[in-house]
Amino acid sequence: MNNAFIDALAKRRSQYALGKNVSMSQEELATLIKEAVKQAPSAFNSQSARAVILFAQQSDQFWQIVMGKLKAIVPADKFAPTEAKINSFAAGIGTILFYEDQNTIAALQQQYPSYHDQFPIWSEQGSGIAQFAVWTALANAGIGANLQHYNPLPDADVADQWGIPASWKLRAMMPFGSNEAAIADKTFLDDDERFKVFS
Ligand SMILES: Cc1cc2nc3c(=O)[nH]c(=O)nc-3n(C[C@H](O)[C@H](O)[C@H](O)COP(=O)(O)O)c2cc1C
Repeated sequence: MNNAFIDALAKRRSQYALGKNVSMSQEELATLIKEAVKQAPSAFNSQSARAVILFAQQSDQFWQIVMGKLKAIVPADKFAPTEAKINSFAAGIGTILFYEDQNTIAALQQQYPSYHDQFPIWSEQGSGIAQFAVWTALANAGIGANLQHYNPLPDADVADQWGIPASWKLRAMMPFGSNEAAIADKTFLDDDERFKVFS
């Protein structure tokens, strides 16, 4: 299929070998990330997604916070692989923290009581869409990234460090950087298992 968007989707993969060989400036990257979040849809156009973009030492500091939290719960003799993994995330040029603003969700619940129970679900879906939009935009710009979920371990320290509003709930984190290794081809389930087409 010849389709630029599908090509961009196929470029997005989980890249765990991240490096610092990126020619785009921090400003260009921040603009790209912001635009991807802004163009992502959200329930009732609520725009509950929030993102904190950490570059260079700020990103390192985030992963040091995560490392400290994990050190407190992972047995010392089993910590080496954990440490290597966290260092691999810090090896990139930055990390995006994806939040959802709980005040936005509460306001919607009040305004539209019949959808009360749906709004937290839609918030999660919207967050996933925003994460995916950013991930794909980065991939399309030649930047590697992966998706991590160390929340809620570092949430309080991160909130202190970067002055995150109390209503922002951390949902995921995305370290990014240069692609330092090829990624193996992905296997796919048979279409018959996943799709039904009626015409
Ligand atoms: C909702 C969601 C949660 C994920 N959580 C993690 C995670 O915590 N850690 C991780 O390394 N990868 C995580 N991934 C990445 C998946 O493992 C990965 O996307 C999948 O194996 C397909 O590989 P690809 O990204 O190269 O296409 C997550 C992906 C999704 C969509």
